[in-house]
Parts: sequence; structure tokens; C-alpha cells
Amino acid sequence: MAKVGFAIIGCGNIGPVHAAAIAEVNQAKLVAVSDVVPATGQRLGEKYGVDVYTDYRKMIERKDVQAVCLCVPSGLRAEIAEDCAAAGKHILSEKPLEVSTKRIDRIIAATDKAGVRLGCIFQSRFAEGPQLIRKAIDQGRFGRLVLGDAYIKWYRSPEYYGSGAWRGTKKLDGGGALMNQGIHQIDLLQWFMGPVASVRAQTKRALHEKLEVEDLGVVMLEFANGAYGVIEGSTAIWPGHPARVEVHGTEGSAYVEDGALKFYKFQKRRAADAKIEETLTMESELGSGAGDPLSSLKIEGHRRQIADFAKAIQKDCPPLIDGREGRNAVALIESIYKAAATGKTVKV
Ligand SMILES: NC(=O)c1ccc[n+]([C@@H]2O[C@H](COP(=O)([O-])OP(=O)(O)OC[C@H]3O[C@@H](n4cnc5c(N)ncnc54)[C@H](O)[C@@H]3O)[C@@H](O)[C@H]2O)c1
Repeated sequence: MAKVGFAIIGCGNIGPVHAAAIAEVNQAKLVAVSDVVPATGQRLGEKYGVDVYTDYRKMIERKDVQAVCLCVPSGLRAEIAEDCAAAGKHILSEKPLEVSTKRIDRIIAATDKAGVRLGCIFQSRFAEGPQLIRKAIDQGRFGRLVLGDAYIKWYRSPEYYGSGAWRGTKKLDGGGALMNQGIHQIDLLQWFMGPVASVRAQTKRALHEKLEVEDLGVVMLEFANGAYGVIEGSTAIWPGHPARVEVHGTEGSAYVEDGALKFYKFQKRRAADAKIEETLTMESELGSGAGDPLSSLKIEGHRRQIADFAKAIQKDCPPLIDGREGRNAVALIESIYKAAATGKTVKV
């Protein structure tokens, strides 16, 4: 089967991770890149020997571009996605899919209308630890789920927020520690526990006073299945800790740190558990965003998700994380912001 031709729009920090991941996927090949800053696009294009554009609209006229990776700042995606969908290109977007459900709905409508696939990067779901937890949930091994928590106690320096004018702005980042950083674990939490029914929350700026958005948020959740949970997300905690997602039930408990399985215990033990228990000391396949956004980010999660997306295009079936899945995390975070602003319990 012919390889799927990918192009990258936005070659800043995460664009090169997509390029490196595409190079490792059998079903995919990189054919072009685009960035409004010529030197940024050039650097990536030269590394992979592909054509470089400053105007993505010219790039998506190419027939050999079947799919685009949207790696521009979060709040710039809706218009670009509409153009790409109209040009018949499948779209794999970075997280968050956009900065609001209103803008996400524009992307979903445009891709539905054009009949192209839409995917949203949540690479943590593709790591082995979260996959094992999801499987155990499907097998009913936790009993009744009663508690699900996400802890993202990270550090981002003032230099990080100063490294792009869009960072930490309401308009282009959409939010702070929860919308930009914690969204990976917030997605995992809903993937494990099911949808959230209502939230109570407090957010503030604990360190980065000049930001428009929160660098600390504490959230109480009630899931639709009746379970409770908490989210604690921050970029104000030095030096930063592994991000942890916990699932607790009446018959079992498990948690991951940076996607690596760290605890996995069930009342009804199975023989196969012994092999899984051996992985409890394994280091993260994803790397950690605890103290620094990219220096330790590994490409493996992106590689697996891009492989899934390329296969979805080849086989004409939905990718594992589609636009509606991408929307769920942003919908929850929007409700959290509303709860924090009003001091009230908000239904999601
Ligand atoms: N999945 C992850 O773990 C992960 C990690 C980092 C960033 N991200 C996401 O990736 C996105 C980008 O983040 P970043 O840190 O790479 O930002 P960045 O500022 O480093 O890079 C964005 C790039 O987009 C370019 N750009 C802006 N408008 C453009 C346009 N119209 N056409 C082409 N290029 C354009 C900019 O010039 C810049 O080079 C954000 O949404 C962020 O949330 C995801």
C-alpha cells in the first residue's frame, strides 16, 4: 500500500517531533513543511530534504500531501484546519484541538463536510501503562470505579512563557496549566473513568503573575458513573514531578506516572499479572514534561499515534483519537474554568 504523504504546518518546538516520528512510521512519509518564519521552516525542511513553504495554502495545493500535522499555536488552528479540509487533506492536530469547543466545532464541521479524517494528538494514550489500565477497566477488574485522579505538578520557567508571544494568553493558549500542560492527563482520566458530570474548581496564578491564565488549578470532579476524583494541575511547582493518573475501584487500583505503570493490583489476581508487575519499574516511554517542555520528550508516543492515523487513512476508518475525543478534554477544561470563575458547581 502506498505511503501516506504528510506535511507539517508549524515547525517550532513540536513540529520537529512530528517530523522525526513520521520518519519512523512505515506507512507515512514527510513531503513538505511550512512555517511563517522562513528560517524555522528551512531548518526542518533541510534536515529531512523536503520542500519548505511560508504559506501553507500553497503547500496544500500539492497532490502528494494527503495529511497535515497542525503544529501551530493552539488558537490558530480553526481557520487553517478549515482551509486544509476544503483542500481535501486529512488533519492530525496537536493538543488541545483548539482553545474552545466553539472553535473545535468549526474544525469538526469542516472535516465532516469535506469527508476527511480528523485526529487529535494525545500521545500518552499510546503508552503501554495507560493501555494496560484501559484493558483492565474493559475487563471489569477494578470492580466499581469509585475514584479517579490526575496530578500534574510541573514547573515552567518565566523563560518558557517568554519564548513565544502566544504562550500563556487566553486567546492563543486557551488557558494555562490545565489547558496546555495538564490536558494530556485530563484526557487520560476521562478515557479511564468515563465522562465527567460536574466540577467545582479554584484556579490562580501562584508564580507567573503576569500571565492571563492560571498556573495552578484544583478541581473536584463527579463522574457520570458516580465516582469522584480530583485534578491538581500546575506549572508553578519547582522542580516539577512526574504526572500521575490514578484509577481506584472496589476491587483494584492502578496508576501511571508519565505514562509508565507504577501500581497495578487487583483483588482477583491473574497469572498474567506477574509479567505486567515486572514492568512496574520501567521508565517512561514518553519522557517527562515535569520541568521542561521538550528536552526529555520522546517521539515514541507520536510515532504510534501517527502510525495509527496513517493506517486509518489507508483503511478508510476512524483513527483511535478522533476530533470528538479531542473535544471532550477541552469541554471539561472549559467547565473547570467556568466553575473557578463563578465559585459554583458546573455541569459538564
Ligand atoms: N503533544 C505534546 O506533548 C506537545 C508538546 C509541545 C507542544 N504541543 C502543542 O503544539 C502546538 C505548538 O506548540 P510549540 O511549542 O511547538 O509552539 P512554537 O511557538 O514553538 O511553534 C509554533 C510554530 O508555528 C508557526 N506558525 C504560526 N502560524 C503559522 C502559520 N499560519 N503557518 C505556518 N506556521 C505557523 C510559528 O512560526 C512557530 O514556529 C501547541 O498547540 C502546543 O499545545 C504539544
